[in-house]
Amino acid sequence: MKIDAIILAAGKGKRMQSASPKVLQQVAGKALLQHVLDTSLELKSCQPHIVVGDQAALVKASVSAPKNSKWSKQAKQLGTGHAVKQSLKGLRAGSIALILYGDVPLVKSSTMNNLVKAAGKNSLALLSFEQQTPKGYGRIIRSPGGKVLGIVEEKDATTEQKKITEVNSGIMAVASNKLEELIKGLKNKNAAKEYYLTDIVSLANENKIPVKAVKLDSKEEVLGANNLEELNQLERNYQLLKAKEFSKKGVIIFDPARVDFRGEVKIQKGSSIDINCIFEGKVEIGKNVIIGPGAVIRNSKIGDGSRIEPYTLIENAILEKNVTAGPYAHIGPDAHLEESSEIGNFVEVKRSKIGKGTKAKHLAYIGDGQVAEKVNVGAGTIFVNYDGKNKNKTKVGKGAFIGSNSSLIAPIKIGQNSMIGAGSVVTSDVPAERLALGRSRQRNIKKK
Ligand code: UD1
Ligand code: CA
Repeated sequence: MKIDAIILAAGKGKRMQSASPKVLQQVAGKALLQHVLDTSLELKSCQPHIVVGDQAALVKASVSAPKNSKWSKQAKQLGTGHAVKQSLKGLRAGSIALILYGDVPLVKSSTMNNLVKAAGKNSLALLSFEQQTPKGYGRIIRSPGGKVLGIVEEKDATTEQKKITEVNSGIMAVASNKLEELIKGLKNKNAAKEYYLTDIVSLANENKIPVKAVKLDSKEEVLGANNLEELNQLERNYQLLKAKEFSKKGVIIFDPARVDFRGEVKIQKGSSIDINCIFEGKVEIGKNVIIGPGAVIRNSKIGDGSRIEPYTLIENAILEKNVTAGPYAHIGPDAHLEESSEIGNFVEVKRSKIGKGTKAKHLAYIGDGQVAEKVNVGAGTIFVNYDGKNKNKTKVGKGAFIGSNSSLIAPIKIGQNSMIGAGSVVTSDVPAERLALGRSRQRNIKKK
């Protein structure tokens, strides 16, 4: 079955009180519209039709859509029915139209699929849910026998109708040719003087098109966001759904209410996430990784058995197996920590490779470094990589011992198994197996 997904994204979103268009507001670091679009693309033979209007060029430029997407413009925002009308020309013959709202971002593809199936070629299917605080939503009007008669919008509802708690998610499916006929019948005689898409439900009844309401058990995925408060709720819903998914896969989330996943995050079984961690972009966490509170991890890979201590920032980095990082470490961008290396308190590692079993446990800066295996980088060591113009490289050979509070002035090479005396300022290469002392000799002078 061909599916034409019509995504409504032309509205101003006045209730958000924001300069940017509502559908570009973000949940989990991704625009609302992008969420809807991405999910619709999970459906088989689905073509997206996006209706833009308010700041159309900005909206179009801000989302990544497949090449075959069709865009139509709704010059004036005369209502959701009028918005759908703009997309009709592009629909494919024999397709089922699936109408999605750009401000209802978390609908699952399985739910979309069920709705399309319920509609089939002959019926109109709509997705409803129970909302104890139904304000702002269209109410589903049913006959005493339970037949869906129509949808009444908040603005037009009587006091009695406002008490109805079964509400419209906005999402509908109906054969494209039927949709075209129904849209023709819309009028704007209502409180908002808009062409409501929701009126096609009563029109379907008049035209003897069977109406099926698919009622969802859990409403998390169909909540919409008209204002910032609702946007916050969506964010938390999304995060709770994600946390639940991870828990089911054997990942321990200490508190599902205090974690944020913003991107494509994969975490394997046996790993645990303490409170207030943020995951951004493409993140892959292996098995049995322990992540302490307040860690921020962006576009990085962390190998099995690694341990991230509290308040550590990791970005564009690869941590191999059994690495420890933190507390309060800054790893990356472009850091590669090999197996069993240890990066400790207040250590920054940037554009550097740290060899297997190497340790830098306290207060150091490792920039543009190639550090071989089993090196000890003492407390307070600085890789002096910047001369005011260029970033220069430091190479440290296997088994070297860098004494505390040393400055290695790059470009420089520190040989294998060499030792740098504490407090040295090292300006020239150190051959292998040597002790380098680059500090003034201590004098003990008689007090006056
Ligand atoms: C709409 C539904 C309501 C439903 C609710 C679910 C109508 C008339 N009402 O109300 O029954 O319970 O969603 O969240 O459909 N848009 C356009 N062009 C327009 C107007 C809106 O593209 O002229 C787009 C908006 O960008 C938005 C979506 O359509 O993405 C919904 O519009 P909105 O004004 O938020 O409708 P609601 O009042 O929430
Ligand atoms: Ca809305």
